[in-house]
Amino acid sequence: MLDSNFLNETFSDLVKYANTPSEKVINYQTANSLKQKFNNFEVKENSSSQADIKSFINKYLTYSVNTGSKQFFNQLFAGRNEFGILAEMLSSFTNSSMYTFEMAPVATLIELKMLELIANKSGFTTFEGKFVSGGSHANLAAMMVARNLADEQIKKSGIGAKKLVAFVSEDSHYSYSKGANVLGIGINNVIKIKADAKGKMMSEELEKAVKKVIENGQTPFFIGATAGTTVFGAFDDINALGKIAKKYKIWLHVDGAFGGPVIFSKDHSKLITGLHLANSFAIDFHKILGAPLTCSAILINGQKGILKQVFDEGEGTDYIFHESENSSYDLGPFSLQCGRKVDVLKLYFLFLYYGLDGVSNKISDLFNNSYYAKQKVIELDNLDLVYPGEFLTTCFQYVPKFIDDQKTINEFNFKLRQKLLESGLSMVNQSNKNGKQFIRLITVNFNLTKEDLDLFFTNLITVAKKLKNEYQ
Ligand SMILES: Cc1ncc(COP(=O)(O)O)c(C=O)c1O
Repeated sequence: MLDSNFLNETFSDLVKYANTPSEKVINYQTANSLKQKFNNFEVKENSSSQADIKSFINKYLTYSVNTGSKQFFNQLFAGRNEFGILAEMLSSFTNSSMYTFEMAPVATLIELKMLELIANKSGFTTFEGKFVSGGSHANLAAMMVARNLADEQIKKSGIGAKKLVAFVSEDSHYSYSKGANVLGIGINNVIKIKADAKGKMMSEELEKAVKKVIENGQTPFFIGATAGTTVFGAFDDINALGKIAKKYKIWLHVDGAFGGPVIFSKDHSKLITGLHLANSFAIDFHKILGAPLTCSAILINGQKGILKQVFDEGEGTDYIFHESENSSYDLGPFSLQCGRKVDVLKLYFLFLYYGLDGVSNKISDLFNNSYYAKQKVIELDNLDLVYPGEFLTTCFQYVPKFIDDQKTINEFNFKLRQKLLESGLSMVNQSNKNGKQFIRLITVNFNLTKEDLDLFFTNLITVAKKLKNEYQ
């Protein structure tokens, strides 16, 4: 029997924590100080009391980053939603695994239905897909499909004489290189194509690179486009890349881990024009759509059967896959994983809560907040927009008037972000490109208001003013 008092009390403490606006988004500590506070996380011989466990939970909350805080702008995810918490709880309570229909009958049917919905919104008529453990996994799976099609003996005989080469934008996510490492392609065989001033992969540069690879006797097998680059939020021109992919018969994948959900937006789906030309599409629901981590899918466009061909091991699986009237629904053979969490409930609950129109409206709200943040940067003294951007990141530098060399400005921005983090007032990220170190503000919390953004800029400017004293 579950201890309902203990669970109810603990749950209500968690809800109280979530609903109490906290002064600090992070209670910044060094690793050593945290180890001390938690007695180095030693486990004891004897069991702990409920009071001890409660006290641990409180302490855990105190020193964990409050990603539900509306001053958390650090990652491509933010916020805390009832739909996600309930879905996650239901998944934990039922504690099942997605490999067979018999183990996860309802979840399997929901997953298939959600894949159909994503495919419809993506303009895919014939399709197949699967939910995976994240965007990186989705990109890996796409590369693996493309690799196995480009070198048909590789699944059984391993890497042969063919030298496979992939092409991605210089601004693409590092998971493409990780994928190349895992798949034996080699990270040097992922060619980074220059991005233009808008952050989009340059198609003429791509074609030049493809030709060169062919001349060298290598085999171009994969073009990895990005819909919403990690730092600038740029959307590659899928139509332009699609033409090259078709001309040279190369697999075209679209990484929509960040920007893919715009397919659900009435106002902004045009950003991902040309998606129907892709051979595969990765999409995360735990970033801009606010599902708890992780909830991601990969879809294959235009064919069915390739996932089983590439991922099914076929041997030694009698213990788990059994012939039955429902076994054609088993999703395990398409997967790299054996046990797989029920993540799809988080997407289904999103639609139960908001409906398709509500989700589209939420995406519009996110865009409006981002426009507001960019406008603030333009209007406020000392702030320079580094990149105008069409999506939900606002990249800017704080430029003190009395500093004019880029190196010192960069150092100032690096320190500014760190000082803000240590203050715990707001948490925002940073990055660099073309010799500029800048702040990257990500506005993806569904509940964010203009007042929250005003407060962020006030916090940033307060910390910057203090930091300026160190430079004068
Ligand atoms: C464009 C892009 N692709 C892929 C990923 C990886 O996604 P995940 O963190 O779900 O593995 C990210 C993560 O930030 C991303 O920005």
